[in-house]
This record gives sequence, structure tokens and C-alpha cells, in this order.
Amino acid sequence: MHLKNLTLRNFKNHAELVLDFSEGVNCITGANGSGKTNILDALHFLSFTKSFLIHQDHQLVRDDCDSMLLDGVYDNNGFEQTVQVLLKKPGRKTFKVNNNAVGKLGSHIGMLPLVLIAPQDIWLLQEGSSERRRFMDMALCQLDKQYLSNLNLYNKAVEQRNRLLKQTASDALHTLDDEQLESLNKVMIPAAEYIYNKRTAFIKEFVPFVVDSYHTISGGTEVAGIIYNSNLQQGKLGTLLQKSIEKDKILQRTSVGIHKDDLEFSLNNFPIKTHASQGQQKTFIIALKMAVCYYIHSQTNIYPMLLLDDIFEKLDSNRSMAFLQMAANNYSGQVIITDTHIERCKAALQLTNKEIYYITLTTNG
Ligand SMILES: Nc1ncnc2c1ncn2[C@@H]1O[C@H](COP(=O)(O)OP(=O)(O)OP(=O)(O)O)[C@@H](O)[C@H]1O
Ligand SMILES: [Mg+2]
Repeated sequence: MHLKNLTLRNFKNHAELVLDFSEGVNCITGANGSGKTNILDALHFLSFTKSFLIHQDHQLVRDDCDSMLLDGVYDNNGFEQTVQVLLKKPGRKTFKVNNNAVGKLGSHIGMLPLVLIAPQDIWLLQEGSSERRRFMDMALCQLDKQYLSNLNLYNKAVEQRNRLLKQTASDALHTLDDEQLESLNKVMIPAAEYIYNKRTAFIKEFVPFVVDSYHTISGGTEVAGIIYNSNLQQGKLGTLLQKSIEKDKILQRTSVGIHKDDLEFSLNNFPIKTHASQGQQKTFIIALKMAVCYYIHSQTNIYPMLLLDDIFEKLDSNRSMAFLQMAANNYSGQVIITDTHIERCKAALQLTNKEIYYITLTTNG
């Protein structure tokens, strides 16, 4: 699976842009603000039905325009596949695959496997646990449709449960509607069990890929580690919900469940957030993302498209070279790199034995 051609119309700063891509390594260069990251975001949108940067779809439409269009032509094992999205303000979007409308957008996720490495990934280490759950979800949703549907069911039920707890607290008599609570618990329990089992199995198989990738990039002896923490390791969700109901009433929210899951990242058994340098942190993130590529390949035999936004930041030259060797030379999937300096890209990629396809953007997109 690889991208052959992409058209952007009124997508962010791009009024009209048509680009061809090579099956191997592509390098998009251009000045700050020329729209390099926006192109990667467009590809993210075509794969995940949403932007990786913007939460409100209408902000993706070029200023002063009413709609935007993205049109990707992919090669799927020799067959041409088109994926098109039309988004009209205030936010209605239609997806078409080979000109057929996609009913449920969730069903599209996983069709065009993609892994993006971007500066914002540092949130994985610096922000709260939701970023780390999102990381697992992004990997698992691409592999398993039931994972996404269980996750949606669960999230909706938790939201409703929290609303119920809030309503009860504001109610003069504080009487909890036990029946409603029970019916929400009944939705949450099997969905949580499914997600918990998938996350547990994923981390177990995934960690060796991270250790390997980290080792390849750092060339050193540091060992990367990940521990998965979940309330469900203490017992079944049904029991945990029962035990915590009094606490939940006081907090007015659900205090146990897979929406509290977290990952502990470490280097030589020390927490990465507090003990690792910026370069080591960046290496860790890149290793994590490369490991997702290899993990998806191990499950599907498909190498996800790999997008690298501004990867030269913070890595020393040995690590940049080792990483580029890994991504550009040894990775068998399609790779799209962005950088402000074509010379830096050329110098960094000169040792790779693959042909590099360069795309240069002008500042007005
Ligand atoms: N809805 C929009 N309409 C018009 N322009 C937009 C819209 N959304 C974003 N932009 C513009 O897109 C421009 C390019 O953004 P982008 O982040 O893709 O640049 P870049 O080439 O990656 O730059 P850098 O090298 O700094 O990372 C920004 O200047 C931003 O103002
Ligand atoms: Mg950018």
C-alpha cells in the first residue's frame, strides 16, 4: 500500500496543490509556513478521518472558503484505490473510497495504515495519561474494528455515568438511579474487558519491537521499557465499580476503569520523563513509533506509510544518521519526510541506497 498522488483543495494554506509521490522515500522541503506539516496532516486525515492537530474540522478549510477537498490515489497491491474527502463548513464531511460513500467513518480506519512522527509526540511523555492511551488506541484501532467500537461504547457509557453522578449530587435528595447506573455498568464491563485484554496483549508483543528500535537508533546499551498499568489488573471491573461507588458519588465521576489506564516509559528502568535527556526522549518517541510500524507489519504483513515531520530536531548526528538509515534505507514501507532545508536532507540521506524523491513547496503553498 502506498500513496501515488495527492490533491489538496482549500485545505489549510493550500488553495490547490497536486503532488506525485514515489513508492520509496519522499522528501518535502520548503520554508517555515509553506505547508509541509499540513500535507502530512492531510494524509493523516485520509487515514484516520481526522486531523492530528485540529479538533474542529471546519478549521481545516482554508480561510474565507466554504469547503475543502482531499483526494488521495493509492496503490493497493497493484490495484488503484482512491480515497476522497469533502468537508463543508460548518463541519459536514463525506468520505468516498473508490467513489463509494463510506457509511461509518470508523470502518475506514485501518484501511490506509499510517504512522506519523511529529514534534507534538513529546506530549506522550510530558502530558497526562490520555495521550498514552491515545497512542495505544491509534495503533490498535488500525488493526481491529471491534477495538474501536468497544472503545466508543465504553467512552459514551462513562460519560453518561459521570453525568448521572453529577445529577445525583445536585439533586436535593442525592438519590442515585440504581437501574440506570446498572445498565451503564453493563455496557462498560464487557467493553472494558475487551479493551483491557487487547491492550495487555499489545504491550506484551510490542515492547520487544521498542527495545530493538531504541537499540538500533541509539547504538548503545540503554534499554527501553514500557509497563502497562490498569485498574483491571486489580480485579474485574464489575467488582471495582461496586467498591468505588461511594467514592464516585463524592467525586461525581467514575474513578476506576480503562479510562484511567496508563503506560510507564523507562530507560534502564528509570522513568523517562524525569531521567532522560531531550535527545534520549526524542529517541524513545521515535523508537515507539517505529515499533508501531513493525508491530502493524507483524500483524498484517503491511508496512504502514511512515510520515516524519521535523525529525532532525534534538537528535545528535549519529542518532539522526542511524534513524535515517533505519527509516529511509531499511524500512520497506513508503516514507515521507519534511524539512526546511533541502541541503540538510540531501546530506543526511546521501548514504542511503534508495532514490529520494524531492518535492519543494513555495511559500504561498
Ligand atoms: N484554515 C487555514 N487557512 C489558511 N491558512 C491556514 C489555515 N490553517 C493553517 N494555515 C496556515 O498554514 C501555514 C503552514 O502551516 P504548516 O504548519 O504546514 O507549515 P510548515 O511548512 O510545516 O512550517 P514549519 O517549517 O514552520 O514547520 C501556517 O502559516 C498557517 O497559518
Ligand atoms: Mg511543520
